[in-house]
Amino acid sequence: MTEPGKPVNRGNNLDPWYHHYAQRTSGLSASEVRALFAVASRPEVVSLAGGMPFVSALPKELIATALDRVMSEQGAVALQYGSGQGIPALREQILEVMALEGISASADDVVVTTGSQHALELFSKLFLDPGDVVLAEGPSYVTAMVVFRSFQAEVDHVPMDEHGLIPEALREHIRRVKAAGRTIKFLYTVPTFHNPAGVTLTWERRLEILEIARDNDILVLEDNPYGLLYFDERPPAALRSVEQEGVVYLGTFSKTLAPGFRVGWALAPHAIREKLILANEAAVLSPSSFTQLVISQYLDEADWKGQTDIFRGVYRERKEAMLSALGEYLPELKWTNPTGGFYVWLTLPDYLVSKAMLPRAVKELVAYTPGTAFYADGSGRHNIRLAFCYPTPENIRVGIRRLAAVINGEMDLLDTFAGTGSLDAVRLDRNSAGLPSDLP
Ligand SMILES: Cc1ncc(COP(=O)(O)O)c(C=O)c1O
Repeated sequence: MTEPGKPVNRGNNLDPWYHHYAQRTSGLSASEVRALFAVASRPEVVSLAGGMPFVSALPKELIATALDRVMSEQGAVALQYGSGQGIPALREQILEVMALEGISASADDVVVTTGSQHALELFSKLFLDPGDVVLAEGPSYVTAMVVFRSFQAEVDHVPMDEHGLIPEALREHIRRVKAAGRTIKFLYTVPTFHNPAGVTLTWERRLEILEIARDNDILVLEDNPYGLLYFDERPPAALRSVEQEGVVYLGTFSKTLAPGFRVGWALAPHAIREKLILANEAAVLSPSSFTQLVISQYLDEADWKGQTDIFRGVYRERKEAMLSALGEYLPELKWTNPTGGFYVWLTLPDYLVSKAMLPRAVKELVAYTPGTAFYADGSGRHNIRLAFCYPTPENIRVGIRRLAAVINGEMDLLDTFAGTGSLDAVRLDRNSAGLPSDLP
């Protein structure tokens, strides 16, 4: 804060408004690898970095037909402001979508938002004060953490393994945060086909985690964009299917339809729902009537379940291409085996740092997201998130082959500098199986 009478220190920042920003904007820093990603979007680079849905698998005619119908039959409504809660017909249809995840609810408790990202923002606005603690898996969805930080909250990462969040670790973290006199506002979790870890919380653990949350009076924010994109077997039912009062559930049409619509939703207990609607109105007046009606028409007329099956098939094939390429080109490393969703979490030997290696990878025409992006505390240095959703299976193979060349090149370089064979002791055992040691 500037003392009265003292000249404002403008530093050497070129932004003349540097000292006018609210304190909360200090959490809004651009990712350090953002500039590299601009290079990585060149067509010759195989990008395993972004989690972009493969929207080309959605027949455009299906959307064009829905759009035509909306404009000819409900044009004036589509072009008008709507309700801050969302269009009632769509909220009813959202119940059908959520029923596939075991959830039964009332359309009254659904609030339509501008993508689930916006629901994360609204929810955080309602609950977070500066200094509050959000418990979240380690690693965790990067842009949720950006939101939490923008409300000056701190993320405390709870370890996971191949079965998802570890209940005992959750108990321990709650004890520790409380003992430090800090306030835990909620547990943020992506229990199904986790971004970025690619793992799914087992049914037994779901029940245990809900019990821990109940016992400790902790609200659960369940973020579930990928649940319907399972490869073979359906995942366990959503946390919200078990617990109604203690869970706020977020869903979206971004992954099962298209993110360009920017339509997602929150399902919340009555009192929270009321506040979410007010926050939604304050932020956007009403979510887009236009895209809500197009989606509603699509759900009404098209075979949306069949289309979800098509997406599932596309992503299953891509995941198989990625795992088989990893097995072929990088057999000495460890990675997770997702049963749905978009992501694989790769663990490098602990003498390789994924962020430092990224410029070389981009030079070799492959991009990935370094693990540190998914931690608030600097962990994840030896991890990489690989997204298999967007490139074709052929390009995924090419990308993994290039990545292997970069990783092996780095290892050779280190071997050379360390003296022959001196790094053998820290190389991973080629025969070791199981989860990455630091997917903790
Ligand atoms: C875990 C998670 N939550 C939320 C979102 C945001 O999705 P939407 O497009 O609905 O805003 C994403 C997008 O990738 C995600 O992976």
